[in-house]
Amino acid sequence: MSTPRIIRVAIIGCGSYGAEHAKFLSVYGGVKLHAVADLDGARAEDFRKKYGAGYATTDVARLWADPELDAVWICTQHHTHAPLAEAAAAAGKHFFLEKPLAITLKDCNRIVEAVERTGVTAAAGFKLRFFPAVIAAKQFITKPTLTVAQVIDDHWPAEFWANDPIQGGGNVLSQGCHIMDTVLHLHAAPPVRVYAAGGNLYHPSRDIVDVAAITVSFADGSVANVAVGDVGVAPHASKFAVQLSDGAKSLSLYNRLNSLMTREDKKITEHPAWPEEGAGVIDTAFVTARAGGKPSPCGVRCARRTSAVMIAVVDSVRWGKAIDLTGPIFETR
Ligand SMILES: NC(=O)c1ccc[n+]([C@@H]2O[C@H](COP(=O)([O-])OP(=O)(O)OC[C@H]3O[C@@H](n4cnc5c(N)ncnc54)[C@H](O)[C@@H]3O)[C@@H](O)[C@H]2O)c1
Repeated sequence: MSTPRIIRVAIIGCGSYGAEHAKFLSVYGGVKLHAVADLDGARAEDFRKKYGAGYATTDVARLWADPELDAVWICTQHHTHAPLAEAAAAAGKHFFLEKPLAITLKDCNRIVEAVERTGVTAAAGFKLRFFPAVIAAKQFITKPTLTVAQVIDDHWPAEFWANDPIQGGGNVLSQGCHIMDTVLHLHAAPPVRVYAAGGNLYHPSRDIVDVAAITVSFADGSVANVAVGDVGVAPHASKFAVQLSDGAKSLSLYNRLNSLMTREDKKITEHPAWPEEGAGVIDTAFVTARAGGKPSPCGVRCARRTSAVMIAVVDSVRWGKAIDLTGPIFETR
C-alpha cells in the first residue's frame, strides 16, 4: 500500500489573513506547514511557534531554494502579489494567492503570464464561491436575469494599508472584488459593460475610490447592481449579500453568504444556516486539487477578469462613463 503524499506548504505574510490560513493548514490532514516567512522576523517566529511550522524566515529566497516545499500561500499586501507570484512560479512552486490577484492590469498580466509559462498550479483567494450557500444558490438559479449584491463594510481607518493607493487600492478595489467575483461566478454569461457612480466619500487624504454603485451588463442580456463601500455594515442584509432572480425563481443570500432563502411557485424555503468556515473552504479546494493533480479550483485568468472589472469600475467612477468589458484581459480561457 502506498503512503499518501504529504503536501509541504509555506505561508508568506504572517499577518491577519495569513493566520486564517495557518489555522487551517496547520491541522489539515495531508498537509505539513513546512515554513513561514515575513519581512518582520518576530512575526514569522510567532507563527512558527503558534502553528508548529518547520522553520521561520525573513528571506523568501530560502523558500524558492527549498526542494521539499511544494506550494506557498501568498498573504501579503497587494503590490507584492505579482513579484512574489512570479518568483514562486519561476522556482516551480505552486501557489495560492490572496485576493485580489493584483490592483493593476500590468501586475495581473505578470501573474497570468508567469503561471502559463511555468505550468504551476495557482489559485486566487475568492473563498465566497466555495461557501455552501453560494454553491446551493448557483444550483437553484443557473441563469440569473437580475442580481442585486453588496459588500458593505464598517469604516476602514485612513491609515490602514488597504486604503493606500499603491499597497491596497482602497475599499472598492480591495474588497469590492470579493462580491464582484461572486456575481461574475453566479451569472451564466460573461460581463460586457460596466457603469459605476461613486467616489471618495470618507478618505480624502487618499487617492482612492471608497464607494461605488455599479451596474454590470452580461452577454445574455442579464444585469447586476452591486454596491461597495466602507460606509457601515447593513444590519439586516449583513456585510455580504446577494439577491438573484430568473423570472420564475428568486433567492436571497445573507448572513455573510452563510444563509439562503429560496422562492419558487410563491413558496419560500429558509435553509438552515451553514457555519462560516472562512479560508478553510478555499484551502480545501486548492489542497484537494494539488493532491489529485487537478486544475486550479479558482484560476488566475478568472481572478484577472475580476480585478479587470473592478479596475474598470474605478475608471468608470473617475471618468463618468460606461466601460466596455470585451477585450482579451476579460477572457477566462
Ligand atoms: N479572503 C479574505 O476574506 C481576506 C480577508 C483579509 C485580507 N485578505 C487578503 O490577505 C492579504 C493580506 O492581508 P492581511 O490583512 O493579512 O495583511 P497584514 O498586513 O495583516 O499582513 C501582511 C503581512 O505580509 C508581510 N509582508 C509584506 N510584504 C512581504 C514580503 N515581500 N515578504 C514577506 N512578507 C511580507 C507583512 O510584514 C505582514 O506581516 C491581502 O491580499 C488581503 O486583501 C483576504
